[in-house]
Amino acid sequence: MINIKEIKKQLEQANSLCELEALRINLLGRQGVLNSYLKDLKNLPLDERKKRGEELNLIKEELECIISKKIEAINRSLLLERLKKDSIDPYLPPFPINIGRMHILNRVINKIIHVLERLGYEAVEGPEVETEYYNFEALNMPLHHPARDMWDTFYLNNGKLLRTHTSPIQIRAMEANKLPIKIIASGRCFRRDNPDASHSPIFHQIEALYIDKGVSFAHLKGTLEYFARSMFGREQKVKFILSYFPFVEPGAEVAVKCVICKGRGCITCKQTGWLEILGAGMVHPEVLERQNIDYKIYSGFAFGMGAERIAMLMYGINHIRHFLDNDLRFLNQFKYNLED
Ligand code: DAH
Repeated sequence: MINIKEIKKQLEQANSLCELEALRINLLGRQGVLNSYLKDLKNLPLDERKKRGEELNLIKEELECIISKKIEAINRSLLLERLKKDSIDPYLPPFPINIGRMHILNRVINKIIHVLERLGYEAVEGPEVETEYYNFEALNMPLHHPARDMWDTFYLNNGKLLRTHTSPIQIRAMEANKLPIKIIASGRCFRRDNPDASHSPIFHQIEALYIDKGVSFAHLKGTLEYFARSMFGREQKVKFILSYFPFVEPGAEVAVKCVICKGRGCITCKQTGWLEILGAGMVHPEVLERQNIDYKIYSGFAFGMGAERIAMLMYGINHIRHFLDNDLRFLNQFKYNLED
């Protein structure tokens, strides 16, 4: 006869799913203990067979029930064990999330654009691959004009060139716009300069142009004083130094009080107390006339600056290379918006 007590004890002691499965096969499987008793039933007299059959079925049901409960219990204890091992600590600080942000140079460029947009300038762009006409000729530098040497130029095989400055956008604006014109343009420029701390073959310029009736040098001065104060602080002073650019007359270099030493003299300003930050001037009548703008009625001013130079001065950055390297150790220093 089946020793049900002994079987229950064995089931109770089983503590892995494997062991339990082996026991189940041994008891309830096709070749199992229970089936062998059921097979023997046919040898018994009818009434005994019935009784014995009912008994065996009850035992089978009981064993199945015990086994499924045991499986559940083992699974639960396995789960608890795993949870204990994999437990998470909700009080740990989270992994840092690196959120991308705009490149510091683009942020400086945008700030410059916003400052001038407040005066009514409209932001425009122009092509990086230019023709000699826009880069030189229309800017009052005909072929063989010696002033072309002021810009070491990358010429392309197709007769075009990489623009050396953003000034060609002035010409495109004069062609496209009705008067008055008030635009600000920014973008990449290219020169065959030897790279050093302040020169790179690829750099960015920002250019402004204002043409209307009665625009004078006083307007240019006022605009640049406002610009310098907005970028470098309320107290900022501006100085105009006579200079030459073929497309303006008179032309000037504009300097601000050295932002590093506040005018006392340091290596950045070469002990002069002043930093030249841009070129400017009154648009040359020759340039206006070429674009069929009557220079007896209209006049204008223009100015252009290197974006990297402005950013370097604002943040004390010592090498232009940093803007192109995209080293995260450099970029991550500028976490906050300029407005913050
Ligand atoms: N395009 C000049 C340069 O790259 C800078 C410049 C000078 C721009 C005078 C101007 C200007 O608009 O009026 O050196």
